[in-house]
Amino acid sequence: MSLPSLSAVSTLAEAGQGRLARLPEQYQHLGHRLVGRRTSPLVWDAWAAEGLRSVPVSERELAFFASHAAYHRAGTAVDAGCGTGGLSRRLRDFGYRVTGLDTSVVSLDLARAHGHGLGLTYQQHDLEAGPPPGMPAGGCDLVAARLLLPFLTDPEAWLHEVRGRWLRPGGCLYLGVAFGDAGALVRGQLPREAIARLCAGWEFRARRDLGLLTCLILRSPMR
Ligand SMILES: C[S@@+](CC[C@H](N)C(=O)[O-])C[C@H]1O[C@@H](n2cnc3c(N)ncnc32)[C@H](O)[C@@H]1O
Repeated sequence: MSLPSLSAVSTLAEAGQGRLARLPEQYQHLGHRLVGRRTSPLVWDAWAAEGLRSVPVSERELAFFASHAAYHRAGTAVDAGCGTGGLSRRLRDFGYRVTGLDTSVVSLDLARAHGHGLGLTYQQHDLEAGPPPGMPAGGCDLVAARLLLPFLTDPEAWLHEVRGRWLRPGGCLYLGVAFGDAGALVRGQLPREAIARLCAGWEFRARRDLGLLTCLILRSPMR
């Protein structure tokens, strides 16, 4: 089967290289619901195989994470939409026991090539199909979703599920989201007005704007 070529699509990573694709129609329903745009695992495989990488995890991002969310050493973390594992590896270095989840087998192979085993495992899983098999309900101390939400069909529903079924009460959600201005969004961005919607139902802890990426740390309420 031939894979879709990189030139057939435009993404946030390409936007960083100056190639913008305007996709405002993606968010036309924003008024009543935040709508994402699902991208096929085959496309992710092709991008990964061709070497397209998302925004690298920076030292400033890690410092922000460390000051607000790295307090739960030896905790259980899920890196949802882990890609080639850049954040998963850093979470493991912080002391978490990490499971990286992704639909793209090519990305997961590249992630595993950087090492896996004790404290860091990867699993192919479609996040829109519910929690991964074997994950105990309410068993996670941390869920990270970096540059993922705009690629889910219903980002708000997924966040609701993470809060209700993935995280323990008081567990932490780390979001890395690229925001843009409605009307000039590129694929992989959410409109700025979405920030409040993403935080609804969570206890807000911290936010940091780091160039393309806005980082948010939220906590699930103590029940
Ligand atoms: C832009 S990349 C971000 C990768 C990584 N989190 C990072 O920050 O570099 C988005 C990743 O989400 C994965 N993804 C998208 N939709 C998914 C889904 N429904 N289930 C699991 N993974 C998904 C893609 O395969 C891709 O690896």
